[in-house]
This record gives sequence, structure tokens and C-alpha cells, in this order.
Amino acid sequence: MRPLSAFLALLLLVGCEQKQDPATRYDAKALLKQKCSQCHNLDMPPQTSPDEKAPPMMAVTFHVRDFMKVANPAEKRRKFIDFVTDYALNPSAKKSYCDKKSLESYGVMPSQKGNITPEELQAVAGYMYDHYDPEKFMKIMTERARLAAMPAYKRVLEQKNCLGCHGLKKDKVAPAFSKIAKRYRDNPDAMAQSIRHGSRGKWAGFKLAMPPFKDLTPADAKAVSEWILKEAR
Ligand code: HEC
Ligand code: HEC
Repeated sequence: MRPLSAFLALLLLVGCEQKQDPATRYDAKALLKQKCSQCHNLDMPPQTSPDEKAPPMMAVTFHVRDFMKVANPAEKRRKFIDFVTDYALNPSAKKSYCDKKSLESYGVMPSQKGNITPEELQAVAGYMYDHYDPEKFMKIMTERARLAAMPAYKRVLEQKNCLGCHGLKKDKVAPAFSKIAKRYRDNPDAMAQSIRHGSRGKWAGFKLAMPPFKDLTPADAKAVSEWILKEAR
């Protein structure tokens, strides 16, 4: 009996521990969206608008992180979670790290009691701390700047991996750009259309269809078409 009861006790303990860790118990990202996004924009970098109801969550997180006084950096995450959990349930102008002017324009956040539980909040706050990470943000911005500095055609080739399927002069799983350039010599606009809408069955010997790239702007599709006409002859 003894080993069995010890085993059962262990099972119980393990079960308990799992229950107590909000980070694994909840889908914090989904909760954040569900419970907080009607007022806080969640994007990184954030989208701001003149009639927003609250500061973007990235701004909130950076702000609280910076202004919170924590003697021991190892405790920062824990303290952040405690602050956010408490603030969302019992907000007040006095507790807020928001500057006076913003507080006046937004008004103090309404308590989220009844909308979200303390345990759920802990999970959400932990996710906020990890997700809205200043280093991650810098990386995103650096990458954006790198892409923005590229000529449009080059950015499209890289982002959509056109040359993964097309060779410049050689067929791969898709016809060589040089062949396509011949067919569309006088018609970069038709080619651009085709790139945005995809293509199937127009090139004998190629079984694959080309997926549509609908998220390309017409200008970007035109830029890459013109590049193909110029470079792939
Ligand atoms: C009904 C709108 C609304 C909802 C929903 C909302 N907030 Fe807020 N929140 C605000 C406003 C307005 C402010 C800015 C004023 C202030 O600091 O109280 C704010 C500020 C905050 C702050 C910053 C406090 C400071 O010191 O700067 C935190 C943290 C916060 N919200 C967390 C949350 C979390 C987490 C959720 C989702 C569970 C949430 N909020 C949902 C409106 C909202
Ligand atoms: C997954 C592989 C794949 C990728 C990625 C791909 N293509 Fe294609 N592409 C094809 C195939 C296969 C065809 C031939 C389809 C057909 O037979 O109609 C094709 C056809 C084309 C055509 C000719 C369309 C027509 O109407 O005649 C153009 C232009 C073209 N691709 C440009 C591009 C550009 C620019 C990119 C990157 C933005 C790209 N492709 C990315 C597979 C790909």
C-alpha cells in the first residue's frame, strides 16, 4: 500500500502545481486580446489613433517597466506582474505611472473586476512582460528599416522568395524569368496583375500553380515586373 499512496500523493502534488501556474494554464495571448484589446492596441510597434481609448499595450508595458522601482532586477518580472494584476482590478490615479496629462485625456482605467480573474491577469501580465520586450522591439524596427531602405523589387524578391521557384535564366519548378520576360515584353502591367492574382496552366510543362500574392501593393508588383523585364532578358 505504501508505495501506492506515495505515488498518489505525488500525483496530487503534481496536479496541484500545474493548476497553480497561470502561465501554463491559460492562453495568455488570447486572453490579452479578448480582455484588453477593446481599449489597448496590442501591435508591436503599436498603431495609435487620435481617438484611442487607452495607451497602446506596448507603451503601457515599457512605461511601467521603466518607472517601477525595483532594487533587485531579478524581481522585476514578478513585481511587474503584481503591479499589473493589482492595477487592472483596482486602478487609481494615484497608483498610475501614467503622466498627469495623459491620465486626464484618457481618464483612469475602469476596474476590470468581473471581466477577468486575478489568475488570468497574472498570466496576461507575464505574457505582456515577455512579449513587449525592448530588445525584440529594436530588432523588429531594425528589420523594418532594412527592408524599407531596399529598392521595392529587391524587397519583394526577398520577402516572397520568388527566386526559390524561378531561376533568372533557368527553369526551376517555375518557368525562368527570362521566358516570362519574353512573353510579357510589352506588358509589365499584365505581368504585375498576374503576380498579385496567381497563375495556373499558362505555362506548358509546369504542373505547379503560382500562389497569389495579394498583399503586394500594385506598385510593388509593378516594380518587380519591371525588374524582371530589364534583368531577365
Ligand atoms: C475600458 C477600457 C480599458 C480596458 C478594457 C483595459 N484598459 Fe488598461 N487602461 C485603460 C486606460 C484609459 C488607461 C490609462 C489611464 C490609466 O493609467 O489608468 C489604462 C492603463 C493601463 C495600465 C497602465 C497603468 C500605468 O500605471 O500606467 C495597465 C497596466 C493596464 N491598463 C492594463 C490593462 C490590462 C492588463 C487589461 C486587460 C485585462 C486592460 N488594461 C484593459 C483602459 C482600459
Ligand atoms: C511556389 C513557387 C512560386 C513562387 C514562390 C513564385 N512563383 Fe511565379 N510562378 C510559379 C509557377 C509554377 C508559375 C507558372 C504557372 C502557370 O503555369 O500558369 C509561375 C508564373 C509566374 C509568372 C507568369 C504568370 C503568367 O500569368 O504568365 C510570373 C510573372 C511570376 N510567376 C512571377 C513571380 C514573382 C515576381 C514571384 C515573387 C513575388 C513569384 N513568381 C513567386 C511558381 C512560383
